[in-house]
Amino acid sequence: MKPRILATVIVAGLVLQPGCSSDETRPPSASSSAVGAQNYEKTCALCHGKNGEGYLADNATALRSATFLATASDDYLARSIARGRPGTTMSAWSRNRGGPYDDASIAGIVAYMRTWQTSPSVTLSKTPLAGDAARGADSYAAACASCHGATGSEGPNVRLANAEFLDVASDEFLRYAIVNGRPGTTMRGYGGELTEDEIADIVALLRSWAKPVATGSVPIPGTLGPIVLNPDGPEPAFTVGNRFTSVDTIKAELDRGAAMGFLDARAGSDYVEEHIAGAASVPFYEARDYLFALPKDKWLVSYCGCPHAESGVLADTLLANGFTKVTILDEGYFVWRDRGYPVRSGPNP
Ligand code: HEC
Ligand code: HEC
Repeated sequence: MKPRILATVIVAGLVLQPGCSSDETRPPSASSSAVGAQNYEKTCALCHGKNGEGYLADNATALRSATFLATASDDYLARSIARGRPGTTMSAWSRNRGGPYDDASIAGIVAYMRTWQTSPSVTLSKTPLAGDAARGADSYAAACASCHGATGSEGPNVRLANAEFLDVASDEFLRYAIVNGRPGTTMRGYGGELTEDEIADIVALLRSWAKPVATGSVPIPGTLGPIVLNPDGPEPAFTVGNRFTSVDTIKAELDRGAAMGFLDARAGSDYVEEHIAGAASVPFYEARDYLFALPKDKWLVSYCGCPHAESGVLADTLLANGFTKVTILDEGYFVWRDRGYPVRSGPNP
């Protein structure tokens, strides 16, 4: 069984049509914006919106915002997609971080995102600002913490203290965002409210939150595992047709020894980082390739972090293919983990 290899071919949009030999009929390369559009639609739109308008799930940002696209270089975008924002629902999408895409496919997604750009790119100075982090703390607490969190990592909006974010965002990138905001979102421009010095101090505070980023590569998930936990146990008391079931109900049924399987709908990178103990990795965008391996007579619990978008796509794929005993972990992965329920790291269940 080699579903991962099959899946890669489909995800990368490289399904070759028979009889394509001349240049005119050859399918577009993975790095073209046409293939990028397909991949975006399949793996990004459910959170960031079909046209990058953002906020379909879990505070996923407005990727088409004019100031964002004008200041984010291709390298910024490609790295953000490849490595994700660990600790948030933004997965690492590159193959060497455990995700589905090679460099060419990521370049295609970036090329597609560029088709949304309406303002010319801005050349940002690379010179660091000379602010003072201690002075920036008060203005940050007063003006920014309500949306970005007291220490920059509680949200609800963009985690400014994220190591991957601070590694790609230069001081000038941060300053430009603070001065001009992100049109079309709740991030307004502070250029008229805060002085240049105050903004430089806030940037210094954000910079003080930088941490080294992870290096090396991450394996893609290994075997699916047995899928069903407690295979000889009783049926859990879930109701067919109930789309969502709470983490506590599911945990209580598991403790009672009920038979069920957990399906992790997120990208493989998130699964390897951490998953519900015993769960199988069934990324939502490859779900069809796994149908043959999943049981129809046992309950399957679909989950993700966001908490309903990716798990919802997976559940709908199962329901459309004759599965009935399907439910979604209502509060999502992070609530399961924060309750202290069993989780595990690594490529295997
Ligand atoms: C499960 C929802 C989800 C999916 C699917 C998802 N993202 Fe994200 N993405 C997010 C969230 C949430 C953030 C902000 C994370 C944070 O708090 O820093 C984000 C951040 C980003 C950023 C950084 C934006 C910035 O302002 O710096 C980029 C670029 C991005 N996503 C692109 C993509 C692309 C391309 C895909 C598909 C390959 C994708 N995302 C899939 C949720 C998602
Ligand atoms: C009302 C809520 C709110 C407040 C207050 C706020 N922000 Fe934001 N901020 C956001 C949102 C939402 C975004 C993401 C916008 C998008 O979708 O692109 C954002 C984006 C940003 C970004 C760009 C991040 C990226 O990934 O590109 C920076 C930098 C930033 N904010 C800094 C600040 C600072 C500094 C302050 C205080 C001076 C502040 N914000 C106040 C909501 C807020």
